[in-house]
Amino acid sequence: MIRKEAQERIEKLRGLITEYRHGRLTLDKPLISEEVEDSLKKELFDLEQEFPDLITPDSPTQRVGGKPLESFKKIKHPRPMLSLNDVFSYEDLKDWTERLGRLVKGVIKEGFYAELKIDGLAIELIYKNGILESGSTRGDGLIGEDITLNLKTIEAIPLKLSGKAPEELAVRGEVFINKKEFEKLNRELKKKDQKIYANPRNFAAGSLRQLNSKTTASRKLNSFAYSLVTDLGQKTHEEEHLILEKFGFQVNSHNKFVKNLDEVQEFRDYWGKNRDKLDYEIDGIVITVNDENVFGKLGVVGKSPRGAVAYKFSPKEATTKIKDITISVGRTGVLTPIAILEPVGVGGVIVSRATLHNEDEIGRLGIKIGDTVVVGRAGDVIPNVIKVLKELRTGKEKEFHMPKKCPVCGNLVKRKEGEAAFRCTNKNCPAIKREAIYHFTGRNTMDIEGVGPKIIDSFMDAGLIKNAPDLYSLKKEDLMNLPRFAEKSAVNTIKAIQEKKNQSLDKFIFALGIRHVGEETAFDLAKKFGSIQKLADASLETLSKIPNIGLVVAKSVYDWFRNKYNQNLLNKFKKAGVKPKEFKITKAMTKFQGKTFVFTGSMETMTREDAQNKARSLGADVSSDISKNVDYVIAGYEPGSKYEKAKKLGVKIITEKEFLSMIE
Ligand code: IVH
Repeated sequence: MIRKEAQERIEKLRGLITEYRHGRLTLDKPLISEEVEDSLKKELFDLEQEFPDLITPDSPTQRVGGKPLESFKKIKHPRPMLSLNDVFSYEDLKDWTERLGRLVKGVIKEGFYAELKIDGLAIELIYKNGILESGSTRGDGLIGEDITLNLKTIEAIPLKLSGKAPEELAVRGEVFINKKEFEKLNRELKKKDQKIYANPRNFAAGSLRQLNSKTTASRKLNSFAYSLVTDLGQKTHEEEHLILEKFGFQVNSHNKFVKNLDEVQEFRDYWGKNRDKLDYEIDGIVITVNDENVFGKLGVVGKSPRGAVAYKFSPKEATTKIKDITISVGRTGVLTPIAILEPVGVGGVIVSRATLHNEDEIGRLGIKIGDTVVVGRAGDVIPNVIKVLKELRTGKEKEFHMPKKCPVCGNLVKRKEGEAAFRCTNKNCPAIKREAIYHFTGRNTMDIEGVGPKIIDSFMDAGLIKNAPDLYSLKKEDLMNLPRFAEKSAVNTIKAIQEKKNQSLDKFIFALGIRHVGEETAFDLAKKFGSIQKLADASLETLSKIPNIGLVVAKSVYDWFRNKYNQNLLNKFKKAGVKPKEFKITKAMTKFQGKTFVFTGSMETMTREDAQNKARSLGADVSSDISKNVDYVIAGYEPGSKYEKAKKLGVKIITEKEFLSMIE
């Protein structure tokens, strides 16, 4: 980016971040998720690193906290209360230690102290001769709000220090509320028609800033101490925690010394997976250079100590730019607009494409090419665009319109009345055929290992196959002429194709790519008819009478089997010896009959698709929507909004482990 562009972008980012921070910190009314704010702050920070002369003292990267509220007395902190810079990946972490290594030798050798980063509110406590004298919020980092009386209501904060106390002691820590208490108290507030809080962090913030301490006392707040400001001769950050504990503070028992970055990563991954097991919210870990002497030497940059960073868990939302919008033509001929993104980490993976669904969705969100957008991966696999940050526009953004012609075959594109989708009108469009084969070999259909889109492309481009049945006549010699193949890989690929000729009937039906026939419907059809021939012979009436199958689906299935091209495909499958397993209903298959399951978040011992298939094979209906009719929600790691909704509706939520013991 050139300097002028960077300057404009920096100014816009500062404006927007300031607005969001004001809403969150001063008004207690968040306008957007904090993850989005962090993501913008990271972009601003990176730009400022690239153009350091553009850093100004009022930049959001240079300040901490919000303005102190007017209604509290002010307290000046003995030393500024700083904040931490964020890192999001192992790479970032490595960069950080490399920078430190250039400043002070031996940083890495002495190891780090790893702590849970509690999602609450920072406080400072001052003790005089062992007695709590005052307590304050961070405020703007230099001056905070005097909330002594409110802090005195928190049992985890000692009013008097244990053991021999120094004349003066300054301690910092976090105030938060336990999740269970938060839910209980929020429910009570709701009953009394009082303001409820969006999350535990807001709850803690709101409760600490009560003008009446009795109200704070009723809120059951909690606290961990994490830093000893006074010099008592401590040599390491670890020792600091031991001293704090001796004085009677609650320190987090999961914190620990870690030798190197691999151990940091291990700690972070462990807590990323297990954070749900804690009864308080954490949003990452804090990594501090353990040696206090080295930490001191590293000093401060901006308003953050160099010697510590917050290693945040991967956000479920992040901001990035739409570089372009392309069109993908699916196996049913639908044209889907796809946003090509500047790569960004969301939900633990790097995302560079997001589906924009259709033209209506683009219009609803007001998306233009060049926009900065919020992308999310709320427990789902395909990332989507949640919001456009129009405030960051430069005026150079371009409108997007769906093409009038199919980008693959050039035939006309049409939108049926009442449908959001545009379709290619050419039944023989190569894109449709290509996608149909991708679908056919996929994990949830014929599950042909190693034959994914890239390999299929190379088969098609070499003229080896035109449709799915052609896969079965491929020979070792055909493949060995292709660039990616050697003898062994060619043999393995042929074997993988032939091996799945007896795939189960439901998967085969799904693999055919009949419009409106998803996994669930394919399963219902297999169960009802037991063989492909019986399904092919079924009358429209019989089809439409099957539970869960409406007239539209029935007609689509009926028409599919009466189409000449499809009949030819089926014949070819037969000739090639593709013979799906006869479908027999066993007792196990009815185990969950009539029960509806919803899966959210990722599973530990299997993929979500496998878990869904398992539930289906035992007779369950698997849905993606939460309603009162759902019997079980299986919540995996980092569950999405479905989890919250299920909780609200009182639907039974079970863990992966409980699900596994149910299916045993
Ligand atoms: S150390 C220079 N340790 O995270 C600040 N902070 O910006 C040193 N936090 O709001 C803070 N848990 O209140 C530290 N174990 C922990 C923490 C922690 C939560 C908060 C802190 C501040 C933010 C860092």
